[in-house]
Amino acid sequence: MRDDDLHAMQALASRTWSRTARHHPGQLAWSSRYAEATSDVVRTWVEGGEVVGWGWAEEPDWLELCVDGAHVYATDVAREIVAWFVDRAPEGPTRTMVMASDHLALTVLGEAGFVPEKAPWFTHHHLGPADLARLRPVPDVPGYRLRAVREGEAAPRSACHRAAWTPPGGTSRVSTVAYDALMGTEPYRADLDWVAIGPDGAWVASCLVWLDVATGVALIEPVGCAPGHRRRGLAAAVSLAAMHAARAAGATEALVCPRGDQDYPVPRVLYRGLGFEPGERTVTLVRE
Ligand SMILES: CC(C)(COP(=O)(O)OP(=O)(O)OC[C@H]1O[C@@H](n2cnc3c(N)ncnc32)[C@H](O)[C@@H]1OP(=O)(O)O)[C@@H](O)C(=O)NCCC(=O)NCCS
Repeated sequence: MRDDDLHAMQALASRTWSRTARHHPGQLAWSSRYAEATSDVVRTWVEGGEVVGWGWAEEPDWLELCVDGAHVYATDVAREIVAWFVDRAPEGPTRTMVMASDHLALTVLGEAGFVPEKAPWFTHHHLGPADLARLRPVPDVPGYRLRAVREGEAAPRSACHRAAWTPPGGTSRVSTVAYDALMGTEPYRADLDWVAIGPDGAWVASCLVWLDVATGVALIEPVGCAPGHRRRGLAAAVSLAAMHAARAAGATEALVCPRGDQDYPVPRVLYRGLGFEPGERTVTLVRE
């Protein structure tokens, strides 16, 4: 994705942010930059010099969309985004994910033939200003130390991510080259990117926080701990360390979006243990 497209998308996400919004500027940075080669396509709708909508064919068969619901022609913009995507989509099913409470998107997607699909969903979790202000201290995990990432550390940092996320038999696409580019992508800040280092010097757990200074919302995305080091409190500790750093940098609330369905419950347990409260959920729609 081109930088100017990403900036335009982030600007609208930030300007229209609410607790019921799907997109956060940091989520867009992560999703568009965690891997090297992508075949995504973006189209933006601009009115009076301001972005009022965008469509992102993140994959040829997967649409992400964002519309300024307060814009006078919001419904028309949403219809144009969906038509743009449908026109360029390949044969076969195409999908999108929106917030279950986004009536505008649901109506327009429904008109175009998208129907809800039984699929994993995500529940946005929030830590409000009062809870962020009294965030509990970072616990000590014996044998491990925590610190923020530094410039030029894309290689160990991406390896740390892969150690947590690579499923048996598969490979994570988070390479050194991709992470290096991610570190140069706004609003990335190395001081909000924390790792846990084991007794042998290996980086074993990590938490990346993205702070949108305009809204004060700090998004956790992603968190991981290598299988051999789990259940010791490392993910919780490294997440708390990153959130304390975000608060010091001006964050007034925090957001994280774990799976809400029963098939992948552990991250939800982790974040609720840190004080996050569940909010709106997503829904997947498919057009056959
Ligand atoms: C999710 C993950 C980060 C947890 O790491 P971890 O270091 O084992 O987590 P912690 O030891 O800090 O445990 C945090 C909480 O989750 C609970 N937990 C962790 N693993 C669990 C499991 N397998 N089953 C049930 N509860 C579990 C802990 O008991 C603890 O709960 P508590 O707050 O009530 O005490 C790790 O399993 C992982 O990397 N998974 C793959 C990547 C991923 O899914 N990341 C999260 C989405 S961004």
